[in-house]
Amino acid sequence: MTSPLASHLTNQGQLIVRNQALFELGHLVMIGLPADDLATHLLSDGVGYITALTRDFSAYRRLLPLQARLEDRFSLSFAPILSMDFTRSVDGVLLFLQKSKPLMDFWLAMVLSFLPEGVPIWLVGENDEGIKSWKKRLKNSFDYVKSVDNARHCVLLEASGSLQKPENFVLEPWFETFSVSAGPVNMDITSLPGVFSHGRLDKGTQVLLATLDKVPSGKVLDFGCGAGVISAYINTLPGEYDITLVDCDALALASSTKTMSAKGRDSFTVLPSDGLSEVTGQFDLIISNPPFHQGVKTHYEVTEQFLAQSCQMLRPGGELRIVANSFLRYPPIIQKAFGHCETLLTRDGFSVYRAVNRY
Ligand SMILES: C[S@@+](CC[C@H](N)C(=O)[O-])C[C@H]1O[C@@H](n2cnc3c(N)ncnc32)[C@H](O)[C@@H]1O
Repeated sequence: MTSPLASHLTNQGQLIVRNQALFELGHLVMIGLPADDLATHLLSDGVGYITALTRDFSAYRRLLPLQARLEDRFSLSFAPILSMDFTRSVDGVLLFLQKSKPLMDFWLAMVLSFLPEGVPIWLVGENDEGIKSWKKRLKNSFDYVKSVDNARHCVLLEASGSLQKPENFVLEPWFETFSVSAGPVNMDITSLPGVFSHGRLDKGTQVLLATLDKVPSGKVLDFGCGAGVISAYINTLPGEYDITLVDCDALALASSTKTMSAKGRDSFTVLPSDGLSEVTGQFDLIISNPPFHQGVKTHYEVTEQFLAQSCQMLRPGGELRIVANSFLRYPPIIQKAFGHCETLLTRDGFSVYRAVNRY
């Protein structure tokens, strides 16, 4: 097992470890696990069995070796919801606060559907993600809500006495389909709560699509696909496309699968990936409105790496096309990887960049 000293804990993880005695349970369910070593800590210090759900592929990849080592004590899924056919009774649920309130409502409804009477749920999250407002919100669903601890800019809340009787929870009704228009093209996009730009077309994506009147037939990589808007648009263009959609978010992957499964869109692959970690092969077009937020903080690393590596995944003559906030310093990175970088359009604070693999 990883030594606790060598391991990494997020701020939430450190707060949980401070209160470890609370979690020394036979069976703990953890929802929304981040990419850290908290599960390793808890399993080495008193928790009998953990059932865990993460939406984040980088957390899933990090925890797979733990699952392989402790398969009789740790069950991990990378999915929008848990499969709730528990073989042992649940003694507690630990939920990690998510930035999106609709996603929290979705996961809380899932937890309430299986939470046995008298079993507590803990919610942990950072102050700047809005954890404080959840004390009041949880009172809509539970009789008793209290703050257990706060440190490391985080708060740990405990709630019990669910006001709702357990009932069947089904994923399907949580998908929402909405129509968006980009120029003359109308598309139906399906997405789950918490997926980027749920229910609307992002401004940046709109600017990117405005540059895409023609796309030559071939293999396309839609990096950070979200609900699949860009791929859905490409599929309306005249041409034959073999599209691979990647994202690190399990909810985005489930959503884009739905969007792409709609009538007339059949040649596509949906792939979980952290950056380009799982992507193989060569493409004629790599297209993206790449990520620059993670939680409430801004992270550029994933996109910087993606830009630096994408040239190697393009066939000779293949093209990278991305949109980004104009203030982001991406052109020098593209320039370094490709030897050039063209700005196709700047509008509403966004720029569309293009580079071709000339090697
Ligand atoms: C700006 S959104 C764009 C979504 C969609 N393409 C659109 O235009 O509406 C960026 C997407 O990148 C995904 N993402 C974030 N970090 C990632 C990573 N490390 N690897 C792959 N995808 C990532 C996010 O989940 C999100 O869906």
